[in-house]
Amino acid sequence: MTLPAELLDIATRIAREAGELAHRRRTEGVTVAATKSAAADIVTAADREVEAFIRAELARERPDDGFFGEESGAEEGTSGITWVVDPIDGTVNYAYGIPAWAVSIAAVEGSADTATWTALAGAVFNPVTGELFRASRGGGAWLGEQRLAVSANVGEAGGLVATGFGYNPATHGPALDQLARVMPIARDVRRIGAASLDLASVAAGRVDAYYERGTQPWDHAAGALLVEEAGGIVGGAPGGRPGNGMVIAAGPEFYGRLEEKLDVIG
Ligand code: IPD
Repeated sequence: MTLPAELLDIATRIAREAGELAHRRRTEGVTVAATKSAAADIVTAADREVEAFIRAELARERPDDGFFGEESGAEEGTSGITWVVDPIDGTVNYAYGIPAWAVSIAAVEGSADTATWTALAGAVFNPVTGELFRASRGGGAWLGEQRLAVSANVGEAGGLVATGFGYNPATHGPALDQLARVMPIARDVRRIGAASLDLASVAAGRVDAYYERGTQPWDHAAGALLVEEAGGIVGGAPGGRPGNGMVIAAGPEFYGRLEEKLDVIG
């Protein structure tokens, strides 16, 4: 088995078990444990418990790897592989009972720096729908037995574009300006509420594109690999790699049209 395939096996098993744990906790009631960058940016007790579960499972399977998680931060490893983890992506949906949240686990080669890493494997699991999206570098992107492919031929009506607005109020004005620029090339716009599922939706051709300012590495590490392995393009602030500034994902035909609209306001 190749290294990416081996890492993917681990990511899918742990994502499934972690998602089931989060789902069980959801039925017992949601406890908001803290807020982060803004009052709306919440952490639930389940976020912390699920991340601790994932971290312990990864340490057991691959003790020499690094770890970079949304809730518990980064720890360097010695193997050259780092796991980038969002235990519950779409925490606000989780808290409100909207069935669009996911566990996102990626294995990347290099340090936990989106500017330099290469993602080798990624799993995004929505335990409410039971959908587990997975990809390994060179091995394609998959949902069950179905190989995923980004949409082609967006056509005259424009693309169905997913986006997000983040929690930092200072970014909301520029985000709305960007949205106004994108609308003329959009058939319509969706705000799903979980970046990993936005990216999985691009990979599956359920939306034609996704972009967002200010996502964090754990939001997009696994999803970006899904899109690339489904034949799409993922970039950052126009011309750059996906990073904290911006993530743009779409099929090759629509990507350039979208990037051009996002160019002026980075
Ligand atoms: C958030 C979600 C949301 C996106 C935010 C992310 P979290 O992740 O992915 O859709 O708009 O930028 O922070 O906080 O729920 O893990």
